[in-house]
Formats: sequence, C-alpha cells, structure tokens
Amino acid sequence: MLMSKKASPNLLLLCFFSVLAHGLSCCYCSSTSSTNSSREDNKIKGMFVFGSSLVDNGNNNFLNVSMAKADYSPYGIDFPLGPSGRFTNGKNVIDLLGDQLKLGYYIPPFTNPSTKGSKVVHGVNYASGGSGILDDTGSLAGKVISLSRQIRNFEEVTLPDLEAQLGCGSRESLPKYLFVVGSGGNDYSFNYFLSNDTSPASLEAFTTNLITKLSAQLKRLYDKGGRKFVLMSLNPIGCTPVAKAMHQSAKKNNKASCAQKLNQAAHLFNNRLKSLVDAIKPQMPASNLVFVNSYKIIRDIIRNPASTGFSDTSSPCCEVATIGVLCKRGGSTCANRTLHVFFDGLHPTEAVNVHIARNAYASNSKNEVYPMNVRELVGLN
Ligand SMILES: *[C@@H]1O[C@H](CO)[C@@H](O)[C@H](O)[C@H]1NC(C)=O
Ligand SMILES: *[C@@H]1O[C@H](CO)[C@@H](O)[C@H](O)[C@H]1NC(C)=O
Ligand SMILES: *[C@@H]1O[C@H](CO)[C@@H](O)[C@H](O)[C@H]1NC(C)=O
Ligand SMILES: *[C@@H]1O[C@H](CO)[C@@H](O)[C@H](O)[C@H]1NC(C)=O
Repeated sequence: MLMSKKASPNLLLLCFFSVLAHGLSCCYCSSTSSTNSSREDNKIKGMFVFGSSLVDNGNNNFLNVSMAKADYSPYGIDFPLGPSGRFTNGKNVIDLLGDQLKLGYYIPPFTNPSTKGSKVVHGVNYASGGSGILDDTGSLAGKVISLSRQIRNFEEVTLPDLEAQLGCGSRESLPKYLFVVGSGGNDYSFNYFLSNDTSPASLEAFTTNLITKLSAQLKRLYDKGGRKFVLMSLNPIGCTPVAKAMHQSAKKNNKASCAQKLNQAAHLFNNRLKSLVDAIKPQMPASNLVFVNSYKIIRDIIRNPASTGFSDTSSPCCEVATIGVLCKRGGSTCANRTLHVFFDGLHPTEAVNVHIARNAYASNSKNEVYPMNVRELVGLN
C-alpha cells in the first residue's frame, strides 16, 4: 500500500475506518475532504490532457520556444484571464468541455512550476503547441514536448504527487478521471508534408505508424489505471488559412477550396482512430474510449456557416505574423470574433470550440461522437 508522508492524519484515519467498513479498499480516493453525496461520487474528478496547441493551455509559456507561443495579445482577448498561452481568442475546447462537465475550474498546465501538490487533484494539462505523436514533429518550433514525453511527465512527476495527495494508488483513483488526447495534426502539417525526404513513406504507412504509436501511449495510460478516454479527431487541416496559402498556390483562382491532400490525410487518420476505439478494447478491458469527430463538426460549419451563425470561414480573425500561422504580437483582430471560424492561421475561434465541446458532450450522432458521447462516458461506472 502506498501511503505517503504527505497524506494528512485525517486521511489516514479515514482510510483506517474505510478498511474496517469495507474490508477491501483502503482508500477513499477522494480528492478533498469535502466529499459529500454518493451522487457526487459518480462524477469525474478531473481531466488529464495530452496533445498539441488545440488543447495546450499554457505549457509552452514556460518552454524555450520562440515559434509556438500564444502568451501575448491578441490571444486571450475574450478569455477572462487575458493571454494565457491558449491558441485562441477565448476558451479552448478543453476549457469548454470542462464547462459542460461543470468542473468549475481550469485544469493547470504541467510546466507551470506551481502545478504540484493539491493543484494536481483535478488533473493536469500536458499539451504542448507544435508537438505531435512523433518525437521529431515540432523540432521546427523548438523544444516543444512530444506526446510520449507528455505521458512520461504524467507518469514520473504527476502520478507520485497525485498518489500522495489522495493517499491511494493510481489504479484506484484514475478511473474517475477523463484522459483526453488531441494530437496528430502537426505530424502531417509540420512533418510529413514538409519533409524533403526523397523517398517518403506512403501516407498509409505513415498513418499506420502514428496510430500504432498512439495506441501504445493509450495502453500506458491504461496500465496506470486510466479507464475513460476521449480521443479528439484531427481537424480539417487543409481548410486552415495557412494550409490554403501554402498548399494551394497552383490553384490561385480557387481560394475558397481546402487543400485536399491535407484533408485526405486527416480523414485517413480519423478513420483509423475511430476504428481503434473498437480494436483496442480487448487490450484494455473495462475501459471506454470516445472518438470525437471535430473534423465533421468544423467541416459542417465551413460548408454551411449561416446555420451556425458564422460568416467568415476562410480568413484569420487576427492579423497574422509573417509565417501565417500565429497572430502578430499586439496586432489587430476582427470586430466580431463570433463570426469567424479561424482566429489565427491555424486555430479555431472560441465560437467553434463551443460547438465542438457541446457536441462532444451531448451529441446523439454517431458521426460526431463514437460510440457514445462524453456525458454517457462520464455516467458509466
Ligand atoms: C454536503 O451536502 C450538504 C447538503 O447538500 C451541504 O449542506 C453541505 O455543505 C455539504 N458539505 C460539504 C463539505 O460540501
Ligand atoms: C533558449 O534558446 C536560446 C536560443 O537557442 C539559447 O541561446 C538560450 O540559452 C536558451 N535558454 C535556456 C534557458 O535554455
Ligand atoms: C526542405 O528544404 C528547404 C529548401 O532547401 C528548406 O528550406 C527546408 O527547411 C527543408 N525542410 C525540412 C523539414 O528540412
Ligand atoms: C456579433 O455577431 C453576432 C451574430 O450576428 C451578433 O449576435 C452579435 O451581437 C455581434 N456582436 C458584436 C459585438 O457586434
């Protein structure tokens, strides 16, 4: 039994009586002493988040990376705390999923030195803008944190801390947390499609490699005790303003269409990811995974913007810097940010994130959430 020095005497006492009462399990695994009704006990206690800039909430602020930071205005112009490192004008999809789950707090970023002790009991966000599933994706942006490093940070740094805080092993506590993974877009946009490799791997082989690596990471989280997983699809990466600018020069007169080869790659990855949800279950008994098709949700908005209240599906809302991806430091923004799909050259506005989070949580369409929505996932034992 793991009982750390940090566990409070009250918690020890609680555990002692728990042993008397229940025989088996020592620990309440309650995050705080305010555990109340049994109804509350079914709710999740927080989220552990892994991935790229779409879900990064400030990790890159603390890294020595010059090209993948969003800690300056106009990022955060609509966020209660101002610029925070989120790559959008307001909340990102994780914040909004947290709102749907009524968490009532923001998940702290791992690289913030204050994210330790009692701060980790509601989960931690490890996501790093510019990173990918492959370790070398992101080398373009500098020392970003790859998915495998993010998961090692979870295992090696957070887990011992969490076990000390909760006074129990991770296999007891982790089933009550959501594990959200959103990675892979950069492996295509800033790795595969930028490679100068004279004999590149086929898209099929590259995608198979990504899915194989991702499934190995999921199994690591499962082995530690993770049971509830949310897998975010890739977005339509060929529809971003920067992708259109970079990959469409041949079709100058067709500014409105998306870069098909990027979208086809995302499509291929997403189909494999969706299949993985079923295929991996025998290796992860008693776990549940939800595939969130943010690709479809965004594609539907772009195809029919008026029905969801958008009017600009192609130009960045902020004034972008030279490379065309990030907002210019201190640059201007569009007047009405709820009308734009893209905030900068790559990332959606909060208004789009709202649609993704709402559908992730409550959609009844298997084309949007598979095989169930996050509300149903959270309601499972
Ligand atoms: C527990 O629930 C009761 C009734 O809802 C409430 O009055 C009380 O403040 C709660 N206690 C804690 C510690 O949250
Ligand atoms: C950050 O990167 C720059 C340029 O590569 C380097 O000169 C500097 O020493 C680095 N700083 C830290 C704290 O690692
Ligand atoms: C590919 O080649 C171009 C031109 O030589 C170079 O500018 C670019 O950095 C190279 N890309 C990578 C990913 O090495
Ligand atoms: C932005 O546009 C929406 C939709 O047309 C409208 O409801 C809202 O009032 C506008 N906001 C501002 C600040 O103009």
